[in-house]
Amino acid sequence: MNSFFALATKRQRGSQPSSSPHAEFPHDQTAPDEAAGDVAVATECATPGSPRGATAIAGPAAVASTTQAITMQRAAAAEEPVELMAARGLSKSYWKGKHEVPVLHDVDFEVGTGEFVSIIGQSGSGKSTLLHVLGTLDAPDSGEIHFDGRRIDCLSTSRRDKIRNRQFGMVFQFYHLLPEVTTLENVLIPLMIAEGVFSYWRRKREFVERATQLLETVGLSHRLDHKPPELSGGEMQRAAIARSLIAQPRLLLADEPTGNLDRQNGEEVMEILRTLNAEQNLTIVMVTHDAGIAAQADRTVRLFEGRVQLA
Ligand SMILES: Nc1ncnc2c1ncn2[C@@H]1O[C@H](COP(=O)(O)OP(=O)(O)O)[C@@H](O)[C@H]1O
Ligand SMILES: [Mg+2]
Repeated sequence: MNSFFALATKRQRGSQPSSSPHAEFPHDQTAPDEAAGDVAVATECATPGSPRGATAIAGPAAVASTTQAITMQRAAAAEEPVELMAARGLSKSYWKGKHEVPVLHDVDFEVGTGEFVSIIGQSGSGKSTLLHVLGTLDAPDSGEIHFDGRRIDCLSTSRRDKIRNRQFGMVFQFYHLLPEVTTLENVLIPLMIAEGVFSYWRRKREFVERATQLLETVGLSHRLDHKPPELSGGEMQRAAIARSLIAQPRLLLADEPTGNLDRQNGEEVMEILRTLNAEQNLTIVMVTHDAGIAAQADRTVRLFEGRVQLA
């Protein structure tokens, strides 16, 4: 695994503030006229009476870069990582018929650029729900999520989809590979979605090369044409990691990535994640119920019955 990620690579280490309104989302090709729509979106996000709401109307890009600049100054002074994602006051319930099942209670969470944070808790404590909410796969009932200085939980569905596809990589306990297509095609799927048909076919050669290289670096170059049912659990998870990296995300969200693996395969997956974090400065949020796995991250956040438990 030594040459791991010589590839993913073109991704820049860390993030720098910029005067470009789209610099927070470098892959986001939003046209300038679309950006005007951000004002409306930001107004929709605004909390009545809050400074964020008031300033958002003046222009969210300016607010985002100012907020980010202040955050960076503070972080530099305290030698803390620059905040990449922050969630404030997240609450969420599920409903079983007429019965409310509260799952998250006023959860605060943040992760800095280049940090590797684990979220640990017993089964049913709300870990997957929290990760899904952070990844905008699910919406909180209340609370806010900010990514790269910009509030994202209340963006339109299409904008959230765009951010998720281009900025977040996701790994799940049960891999979620498509069984009927090859390993290589599974890794390419996020690019098909993110790029759209025309751009994907125009750049297909480059993308296939990128996917092949990623699969090589996770030790699967001999499995490119194999379909998931022909792979072992460890191989499927390594393929899923390659898939999560193909769009060169800035944040990796992993839900029990070793939960379905034996010890050796679990260790191999953890080695890949640690290498990604150490060598590529990839920010990782990993959910696990296993204290030994959680301890391999830089920092651990404990969830107990949907609340963050202070150490
Ligand atoms: N879609 C759902 N509908 C109803 N209840 C759910 C749903 N998803 C999760 N829950 C409940 O929410 C609680 C937390 O679930 P989850 O976030 O999956 O916990 P964890 O990942 O820590 O095991 C559990 O009690 C679970 O049964
Ligand atoms: Mg879970």
